[in-house]
Amino acid sequence: MTPAYILRPMTLEDIPQVLQIDRQSFSTPWSARTYEFEINNRDSSYLVVVEAFAPEPERPGGLRGLAARLRAPAPGAAQVVGYGGCWLIAGEAHISTIAVAPDYRGRGLGELLLAAMLRRAINCNGDYSVLEVRASNYAAQALYEKYHYRVVGRRRGYYRDDGEDALLMEVRPLDEAYRQELDARLEALRARLNFVDYFTVPDR
Ligand SMILES: CC(C)(COP(=O)(O)OP(=O)(O)OC[C@H]1O[C@@H](n2cnc3c(N)ncnc32)[C@H](O)[C@@H]1OP(=O)(O)O)[C@@H](O)C(=O)NCCC(=O)NCCS
Repeated sequence: MTPAYILRPMTLEDIPQVLQIDRQSFSTPWSARTYEFEINNRDSSYLVVVEAFAPEPERPGGLRGLAARLRAPAPGAAQVVGYGGCWLIAGEAHISTIAVAPDYRGRGLGELLLAAMLRRAINCNGDYSVLEVRASNYAAQALYEKYHYRVVGRRRGYYRDDGEDALLMEVRPLDEAYRQELDARLEALRARLNFVDYFTVPDR
C-alpha cells in the first residue's frame, strides 16, 4: 500500500516549506539561517519533517482528462506538513520546536513528530527530555502531558514578543518501560496514519 506520510530528516531544500508553517504557527518564527545552522549542526541537533502525499485526484477521461493530468503535480509529489527539532546534549533531549500546518492539525501528526523525536533520542542514549511551552498553549501542553511530561518550573516573561511566561516541562527517565510505551504508541500511529519512517533510526 502506498504510504500516506513520510517521516524523514529535514534537509536544506525543505527550508522554504518549513518557514511557511513556522510563520503560520509562531509569533516569533525562526529564520532560514537558523534552520541552516541547525541542519548542519549534526553532532547535537536533529530535525524531522513529515511529508504528506497529495491524494490522487479524480480526473475525467478523454482530452479533458489529459489536460488535467498535465496540470496535476507529478505522481508521488509530497509536501512538508509538519516538522520538529531536538537538541541532544549529555543525555538531555531538548525539544526545540514542533509544528503542524493548520490544515493538517488534529490528525495525530504532532504526536507522531514528538514520539519520533523521543524514540530517536532514546536510540542516541537520551536519558530525559525537557521543553518550554507558552503558559497559554493548552493544545501543546496536552500533547506533552500525553507523553508524560510534567511542569517542573516557570520562566517569567520568557517570550520576548509579548512577555508571556514559559512553562518548563520534563519527562524522565526515558527508560526501558518508557521505550516500550513509545513503541506501542508509534505502532498505533503507524496503523492510523500509514507512514514510513526514515528518521527514528539514526544514520550516524
Ligand atoms: C501543538 C501541535 C504541534 C499539535 O499537533 P496536532 O497534529 O494538531 O496534534 P495531534 O493531532 O497529534 O494531537 C495529539 C494530542 O495533542 C493534544 N491536542 C492536540 N490538539 C489539541 C487541542 N486543540 N486541544 C487540546 N488538546 C490537543 C491532545 O492530547 C492530542 O491527543 P488526543 O488526540 O488523544 O486527544 C499543533 O497544534 C501546532 O502546530 N500548534 C502550533 C505550534 C505550537 O504551538 N507548537 C508547540 C510549541 S511548544
